[in-house]
Amino acid sequence: MRLILLGAPGAGKGTQAQFICEQYKIPQISTGDMLRAAIKDESELGLKVQGIMNSGGLVSDEIIIDLVKERIAQPDCEHGFLFDGFPRTIPQADAMKDAGVKLDHVLEIAVADDEIVGRLAGRRVHPASGRTYHIEHNQPQEPGKDDVTGEALIQREDDQESTVRNRLAVYHDQTAPLVDYYQQWAKDDPAAAPQYHRVEGVGSVTDITRQVTDALGKQA
Ligand code: AP5
Ligand code: ZN
Repeated sequence: MRLILLGAPGAGKGTQAQFICEQYKIPQISTGDMLRAAIKDESELGLKVQGIMNSGGLVSDEIIIDLVKERIAQPDCEHGFLFDGFPRTIPQADAMKDAGVKLDHVLEIAVADDEIVGRLAGRRVHPASGRTYHIEHNQPQEPGKDDVTGEALIQREDDQESTVRNRLAVYHDQTAPLVDYYQQWAKDDPAAAPQYHRVEGVGSVTDITRQVTDALGKQA
């Protein structure tokens, strides 16, 4: 199974990705997590992208496309993968098309902007694994600690309200056009295009997981 999770910042892509990847035994490819790991390592890539990520802008298509192509060439991607936060622009989507990367599904998680700001203010993450919690809606077993390792949870640099608003604006401008892109492709060439599914991303995490697995399971 090869799929794209599409949705605004805070829509729940990372949260649902964990369940999908476990169920279908595929790796999660989160470009955001990969870039955050590069920043933590202070690598050349990390130093290059740090400023833009902290301000909520998008990293250049060229950097992202190279990163993803290298990642999907690895052996663990042979039987499938899940893209979380990629593609995020039309050139990124075109790059996959041009490289002949066949995708089975695009799953959009739809959440209104008003809901997003509160979600991201309460988000806590375990940086090493990318596991995500929320101080009210998705609490860790022990406050401030990761369920699996017991290590400390942190707040992301880009989760301050002003940065979240900028990320939402960037999403509507650069990424939301991919909704039409994939829907139109599915109409024009259903044999080659991935199937398009839309799930309402408001409700409990488990309800949304059920809708996601229903959508993918029916047509996998
Ligand atoms: P990235 O890491 O991809 O961030 P994002 O798209 O902004 O998405 P988030 O991780 O913020 O949200 P999510 O949908 O994963 O939500 P989550 O599950 O955590 O990108 C970060 C930056 O990297 C970008 O701004 C850009 O600079 C750069 N970048 C990355 N990819 C790029 C690309 N392809 N091109 C260019 N630049 C790129 O959930 C959010 C919170 O809500 C959590 O606290 C969670 O517990 C809670 N929650 C989840 N589900 C529910 C629910 N149903 N009800 C209530 N709360 C919920
Ligand atoms: Zn995420």
